[in-house]
Amino acid sequence: MKTLKEAYSRYFRIGAAVNPRSLERFGDLVGSQFSSLTCENEMKFASIEPKPGEYTFGGADIVYDFAKRNDIPMRGHTLLWHAQTPMWVYEGGRDAALARIKSHMLAMAGRYPDIWSWDVVNETIADDKTGALRRSPAYEAIGPDYLRVVYRMAAEIFPNAQLVLNDYNELSPEKRAGMIRAAKDINAEGNIVSTIGMQGHWNIWVDPDDVRRCISEIAEAGFRVQVTELDLSCFKWDEREPEDRDTPEYRAQLAKAYGSIFAVFREFADVIDAVTFWGVDDGSSWLNGFPAGRRPNWPLLFDREGKPKEAYYAVTEF
Ligand code: XIL
Repeated sequence: MKTLKEAYSRYFRIGAAVNPRSLERFGDLVGSQFSSLTCENEMKFASIEPKPGEYTFGGADIVYDFAKRNDIPMRGHTLLWHAQTPMWVYEGGRDAALARIKSHMLAMAGRYPDIWSWDVVNETIADDKTGALRRSPAYEAIGPDYLRVVYRMAAEIFPNAQLVLNDYNELSPEKRAGMIRAAKDINAEGNIVSTIGMQGHWNIWVDPDDVRRCISEIAEAGFRVQVTELDLSCFKWDEREPEDRDTPEYRAQLAKAYGSIFAVFREFADVIDAVTFWGVDDGSSWLNGFPAGRRPNWPLLFDREGKPKEAYYAVTEF
């Protein structure tokens, strides 16, 4: 059996979002399969500095030390976001907010100096189909130029990291246009953000042609691509009722969908730097609680025992 990182060594890194629990349960699997790791929550602002000056690096340290021991490079997720970032960060006006963001970045750079790629600001585009910037707390506190200022700051503090503008719903043309516009605006005075992060929270009916169109548009606009949070839900967005979809029929559809999107990813191996799964096994997926609370889902390549599913072979055998 070929591991994911072996199968893709000539294409791009294959990553996973992990946390101390999933590492405890599936450390061997993670160590052997993946060539990039992301903290699922542990590097978010609220995990690192829940109260001003009170740093809680414990969770991030566990993941970082595991990655070091296993010689796996890490992505950083995320320096600033409208969620999982305490509101005190934004209090007291532009200069106060920027000073706090800067000291947060310096703390992260000091403790985790070799992160290869940072999601600097997460989910910056509004959901209103205009592709405009989200009126996030950072936008309100710092002003409409906040992305330029914050990304420039990150470029100074993390000079060796690939900086990413990361968002979801990138298969929607309006949202994608907004992401590209925002990234170009950040780069108006120099090359700061090189990469668009497509989260890749899709479902098992995802159309590979949509994925191809998305990546080629981003590449044509001059940006590199990472798929940063890939999972394929067994439910459509509006379906909220629990139902057992760990059946042969759904497993086959999951495999077909993963096989077809990875074929597209391979076509773009020259623009994609990494494809990261959002979780290791079905049991550790956030989709067991989102968007419908406590409903089981089966969106990943490994089952709840860590055994490779049909989808795993669809991805690794080509
Ligand atoms: C999710 C985590 O997986 C959950 O454990 C947490 O409760 C909420 O955040 N987009 C992102 C990720 O950028 O940070 C989110 O992660 C999933 C959606």
